[in-house]
Amino acid sequence: MDLNNMEENTVLITVVDREGVGHALEAPTDMGMNMMELCKSYELPVEGTCGGMAMCASCHMYIISDHDLGIRNDDEEAMLDQAFFVKENSRLGCQLHIAPNFNGLKVQLAEVGG
Ligand code: FES
Repeated sequence: MDLNNMEENTVLITVVDREGVGHALEAPTDMGMNMMELCKSYELPVEGTCGGMAMCASCHMYIISDHDLGIRNDDEEAMLDQAFFVKENSRLGCQLHIAPNFNGLKVQLAEVGG
């Protein structure tokens, strides 16, 4: 395995859980992985009930670093419209596909509503 290559395709992301504890996660940028899947792979409490279809909001998270991840897509916007505890910086993790510009990103898991 080419380690240099591996590092090139890896970013560091911090996820703050609902207890306020930060977790530093290494994330691949070349696997088409999204933030919901990343959290699940580290066994953080993100259910991803709908499997990443923007239909459940169980992957709702807040972007707390000042990364520009682009705007919400229509499905994401529609789901967040119905979700609880939505803020300006709310995103659905499953709609955030991990890319090189995610390096240093910090997110916080939203409360589970309902
Ligand atoms: S996993 Fe269901 S909305 Fe993201």
